Amino acid sequence: MKGERLVTDSRTRALLADTPGDGPAVVARAPARVNLIGEHTDYNGLPVLPIAIDRDVLVAARRRPDDAVELSNVDPAFEPRHYSLRGDIPPFPPGDWANYHKAATVGLRDALGREHALPGGSFRVHGTIPIAAGLSSSSALVVACGLAHLALADVELPRLELAELFARAERYVGTLGGGMDQATTLLARAGHALRIDFFPLRARPVPVPPAAGFVVAHSLERAEKSGQVRGFYNQRVVECRLACALLARRTGVAATRLGDFPDRVALLADLARLLPETEVAASALPDLLGLTPDEVRARLLGEVTLAVPGRFALQRRVRHVLGEADRVAAAEQALQRGDLAALGDLMNASHRSCAEDYEVSTPALDHLAALARAHGALGGRLTGAGFGGAIVALVERDRVGALIAALDRHFYAARGGRSDLRLSVEPRGRATVAQVE
Ligand code: GLA
Repeated sequence: MKGERLVTDSRTRALLADTPGDGPAVVARAPARVNLIGEHTDYNGLPVLPIAIDRDVLVAARRRPDDAVELSNVDPAFEPRHYSLRGDIPPFPPGDWANYHKAATVGLRDALGREHALPGGSFRVHGTIPIAAGLSSSSALVVACGLAHLALADVELPRLELAELFARAERYVGTLGGGMDQATTLLARAGHALRIDFFPLRARPVPVPPAAGFVVAHSLERAEKSGQVRGFYNQRVVECRLACALLARRTGVAATRLGDFPDRVALLADLARLLPETEVAASALPDLLGLTPDEVRARLLGEVTLAVPGRFALQRRVRHVLGEADRVAAAEQALQRGDLAALGDLMNASHRSCAEDYEVSTPALDHLAALARAHGALGGRLTGAGFGGAIVALVERDRVGALIAALDRHFYAARGGRSDLRLSVEPRGRATVAQVE
């Protein structure tokens, strides 16, 4: 079996000791991510600027002699699961944690084809990423399980290919996710943010100035991707597709994503003329787009759960996406210059746009971001899909402790004081996979 380096820390040893079987084992680790800026841009083919952090999902695995997958988790809240690799692999009921393992398996099977059949295996999981916090615990689980399974199969693939493969694979759970989370966990570099572009996937590390500190703080509202958030998230993806189709029709540009428009500055300036300001009813779409109802369904709406299938906001969604893409470019330059004040301003503007135009914030996220700004943060914004989850605040490194103390006093104290949900984070390195003799 192939691997990168032997990992022998005590956490890994404990996980290995509890992994069934006695043959050689593999261990994969995939970090969580915190997106600094560039929210809901990835699926539009526009850039993002995340970091990986030191919370992660660790998976140990050993081969089994049959075609079965046996899956268990150190956390008893996630019950053991079994499934067969033979034939179709239908999902467990929605929300089941093991669907993320199946997502990786099905994605790998589709990509590898018959000549590289995946072996059966026993997988044991230990995660330290807060769940439903907008820190991408689900993608870390998919990637760690997938890397471990690939190592059991003795297959190595380039990281960029894996990032695209696992982004596609995760749609198995019914969310139309972009590729940010999988790319970050697979490609991140310690001490750097990652500027990621899509279609085709590219990533370049951007050094984070040593003076920058980052605090992640949970709003205590769960953003459950496999639950209610799925419909809200998919709704935004579909709204962007519809807006793109209408813009393509009205401007004559052949675009399938908002990122395909060559002159986005002109587009942004002309949005009020090009897209309706008020929400569009589903019944009005065929006329507006010059398509039959069946074409609208097949090409644009898809077979996914939507939060409000009858009404779609277009103009303000596009205003957010195009503005956010500009802010990512400006934020990358601010990082290069070491200009933390400028980066903070961009993060604040991003939060406002996420709240007002993209409507993915909540009162608790708004409140936390405002509190962070009032107590020393240069910038504060929701991170991840939104609809709950966490904020990320940028703060001078020597003020991290004071900011956390202020959040404890003004936010968490009145809400049960849960201390594991506000963290000081640093940019860490990418996922690893290792062989253990
Ligand atoms: C989720 C998705 C990502 C991205 C963000 C929003 O985390 O998995 O692909 O779209 O939301 O920026």
